[in-house]
Amino acid sequence: MEYNNIIVETEENIAVLTINRPDQLNALNSETIAELGSAFKALEADHHIKAIIITGSGNKAFVAGADIKEFYQFDIAQGKELSANGHQTLFDLVENLNTPVIGAVNGFALGGGLELAMSCHFRLASDNAKLGLPEVTLGVIPGYGGTQRLAHLVGKGRAMEMIMTAKMVSADEALSYGLVNQVTPQEELLGACQKIALKIVKNSPVAIAGAIRAINAGYTDGVNGFEAEIEEFGKCFGTEDFKEGTTAFIEKRKAEFPGK
Ligand code: COA
Repeated sequence: MEYNNIIVETEENIAVLTINRPDQLNALNSETIAELGSAFKALEADHHIKAIIITGSGNKAFVAGADIKEFYQFDIAQGKELSANGHQTLFDLVENLNTPVIGAVNGFALGGGLELAMSCHFRLASDNAKLGLPEVTLGVIPGYGGTQRLAHLVGKGRAMEMIMTAKMVSADEALSYGLVNQVTPQEELLGACQKIALKIVKNSPVAIAGAIRAINAGYTDGVNGFEAEIEEFGKCFGTEDFKEGTTAFIEKRKAEFPGK
């Protein structure tokens, strides 16, 4: 599919999705959000793709936020619609994708940019990255899941402080908060993500998808994560991947997962 604002590249079974509006620091306008939503859906439907890395174009920004120029004249109804549509089209979709998504935070990850990174299953950052939710400087609050996901990832007190002060944290601070899993020099960031992706793609995609659902269940209101785990665990026993994984262990060979 042709996109105006993103680039999708695939090599073997890993896809790299690049947000490509570098002159606007990859700000998320509605077209970019829609394109990302379509690309993630298409990649999830492609069973050859077993891991997705998302990054920003250029060496300055992952994403500097939702596109302020697009929404600054919105009214209450339009603001609510913008938030609800973003949740549904992109941010919830990424968090609940069956295919693992790694955020490669290669510079500024602000507002909607940090919210997108936080929707990924986990994140790595380059050493020049700056992460923050500066929405209150604009008279608005994070509207793409930031009030919830930041608190889940770094704890309520730190989330309150980051959101109230609008401060940007460095990559190293983000690492110490558990907001990112690893910090690398900028030129090594994609390689580091690919190295982790290569480990992921050797494992059962069906089991990984079940693990994503079980982990996310624990962060979903009204859902018991332990019960979700029991369900997902049980379902694994009916899969070809389980038969292959356990048989390969018994036969002392490497498993070749069919992904079913
Ligand atoms: N929405 C729309 N455009 C944005 C943007 C955003 N969130 N962030 C950056 N841009 C645009 C700038 O308007 C500028 O475009 P222009 O050249 O057409 O004027 C271009 O990207 C470069 O940004 P600039 O501000 O000149 O770069 P800088 O290096 O001086 O500052 C930042 C970098 C990230 C500190 C600054 O761009 C910024 O504060 N951005 C907004 C961050 C924010 O509040 N995000 C939350 C949004 S909800």
